[in-house]
Amino acid sequence: MRLPANRDNIQHCAILLKAGEIVAIPSETVYGLAANATDESAVRRIFRVKGRPLMDPLICHFSSLEAVSAYALVSSQMEILAEAFWPGALTIVTQKRDRIPDIVTAGLPSVAVRIPSQPTFRSLLSAVDFPLAAPSANPFSYISPSSASQVEQTLGQKIPAILDDGPSTIGIESTILDLRNPNCPAVLRHGPVLPEELEQVLKLQVENKVPIVSANKKGDPDTQLAPGGMNRHYSPNTELVLLQHGSSEKISYHPEAAYLLIQRPAVNEPNRDNLFWLSEDGDLPIVARNLFSMLQKLDHLGYKKIVIERCPEEGVGTAINDRLERAAAKAR
Ligand code: TXA
Ligand code: MG
Repeated sequence: MRLPANRDNIQHCAILLKAGEIVAIPSETVYGLAANATDESAVRRIFRVKGRPLMDPLICHFSSLEAVSAYALVSSQMEILAEAFWPGALTIVTQKRDRIPDIVTAGLPSVAVRIPSQPTFRSLLSAVDFPLAAPSANPFSYISPSSASQVEQTLGQKIPAILDDGPSTIGIESTILDLRNPNCPAVLRHGPVLPEELEQVLKLQVENKVPIVSANKKGDPDTQLAPGGMNRHYSPNTELVLLQHGSSEKISYHPEAAYLLIQRPAVNEPNRDNLFWLSEDGDLPIVARNLFSMLQKLDHLGYKKIVIERCPEEGVGTAINDRLERAAAKAR
């Protein structure tokens, strides 16, 4: 059931969570599927409802850095990053304490933690006295949801409540930074917080320059440091084909395919009802905000194929292209 985000409904969801239920919740990145992170059977429900393998660990969400430190190691490097980026779209992997059950971390000694900024999510975190484990609220390997209606379409029948607070303002998942080795912070998943921003903050504060390395480039199992960073992910049921950035003039349009461009085509383009775009002028944060809802919409329009233009490899374009590559990857 979709519930508008107001005080009573937030309270109602807090009661459900305390009773071991799972609830879909808004966040600034994407909608999450939340459970009491300290309740093993509640967390198990998340995996069951998503059809997610147990080897794919979950992110734990907290209301404050003090709350984080009760469940995970907070290093000085982490404090610096928290000051700069929390609340917000940065997830940090650090050593876990025993209070986090193994099911949350897929048995790993580390845990991924985040303090979100979305006001309703924050109110919910304040209304309970435990962290919330929450993956994105999509069936495993399907498109992540940036709105409550996207969650409703896929998981609506399987969960007691979807707290609806409008579309997610960012639209793609948080950046994941592995801080376990202080000499080698590693981006495990690209996202809204850019590697150069992380580097900038660490460089200013840390004596030696700390390089940020990027892990999980697709295909190479040795560099796949983020468990669950599957090659096929975020995928519509419709076949997805990627187009080089800026090559839209060369398209030979086929009526059975949908074409999704980064920006509105030039005015002299003929009108086509199978041509769609993600922003007026190519602004990448707007492309990110609209991406998942547009993909899910196109997935239901009955096209044989969705042809989508890649972003330039700059700013949040890198994170968007990473999602596109995985979304287009064939199931193995
Ligand atoms: O923006 C987000 O991060 C959203 C919102 C709801 O917070 N959540 C999200 O969760 O995207 P999910 O489950 O879709 O992605 C979590 C990923 C896992 O697939 C895994 O790659 C990584 O986080 N992860 C979690 N725990 C980890 C750990 N201990 N070590 C390394 N990577 C971990
Ligand atoms: Mg996900």
